[in-house]
Amino acid sequence: QDTSRAPLEYVKGVPLVKYFAEAMGPLQSFRARPDDLLISTYPKSGTTWVSEILDMIYQGGDLEKCRRAPVIMRVPFLEFKAPGLPTGMEVLRDTPNPRLLKTHLPLALVPQSLLDQKVKVIYVARNAKDVVVSYYHFYRMAKVHPDPGTWDSFLEKFMAGEVSYGSWYQHVQEWWELSRTHPVLYLFYEDMLENPKREIQKILEFVGRSLSEETVDHIVKHTSFKEMKKNPMANYSTIPTELMDHNISAFMRKGIMGDWKTMFTVAQNERFDADYAEKMAGCNLNFRSE
Ligand code: PPS
Repeated sequence: QDTSRAPLEYVKGVPLVKYFAEAMGPLQSFRARPDDLLISTYPKSGTTWVSEILDMIYQGGDLEKCRRAPVIMRVPFLEFKAPGLPTGMEVLRDTPNPRLLKTHLPLALVPQSLLDQKVKVIYVARNAKDVVVSYYHFYRMAKVHPDPGTWDSFLEKFMAGEVSYGSWYQHVQEWWELSRTHPVLYLFYEDMLENPKREIQKILEFVGRSLSEETVDHIVKHTSFKEMKKNPMANYSTIPTELMDHNISAFMRKGIMGDWKTMFTVAQNERFDADYAEKMAGCNLNFRSE
């Protein structure tokens, strides 16, 4: 049975890709360890980039060690499930301490033990307009998602929180709020683009590690968009075409700020801005999008 392009399924009010919804049951048995590090993001916000940076840090900048396996095996994706591939929970069984973990889940679905164990979180946020454009192209190429429909209808669904993982607006705000009571390093994709070295230094301080300046420069170089795009262990090209078709759109697509301008019409932009102002009212998060 071909279950690709299946409709999203709601778990505690959150729409998820059908397979990921199925993974939520087994995820209940997940037990966090105090030395885990959780990479949390709304999709398309720089997850893979910061995952590669952290693995390079954990491997002391050793590029060959970082080429040991695809990023999805090196940084287990908690709620991941797809035909023919090990689930996130299965990958975890073979992951030695200290573990790097990835999730896109909103707080309502995050395993409680991660919060109880006060596991350090690195959250990466990206401006909503570039996220929705990146997400649209990702829906097209990653067939675990429903068909995205037209760009205009996808944009409406995004604004309504009716895409996988639900509302971007709620996600970026609730993880920001969490940082009041939980160890969260809240990063912005746009800051990483502007000065990756500075952001890597922040990460090093947060995870309590130090590396020579030379090693940090080496990490900056090998986690650039250009290098990651051609690295099969970072660019998702090892995922079978039935699941991700890079001919439709590459996973490593553009890696820039402001690509939304190639998609948004003037009318869409006005409507989006008005809706954004309402949904983000009272929140002191400031995103750069151009
Ligand atoms: S996912 O599927 O949610 O885990 O995707 P995620 O990795 O969060 O986001 C993918 C977008 O990040 C871009 N990307 C990068 N940008 C700059 N530098 C580096 N090294 C980098 N690596 C990935 C990737 O191209 C996607 O953005 P778009 O706008 O689609 O190009």
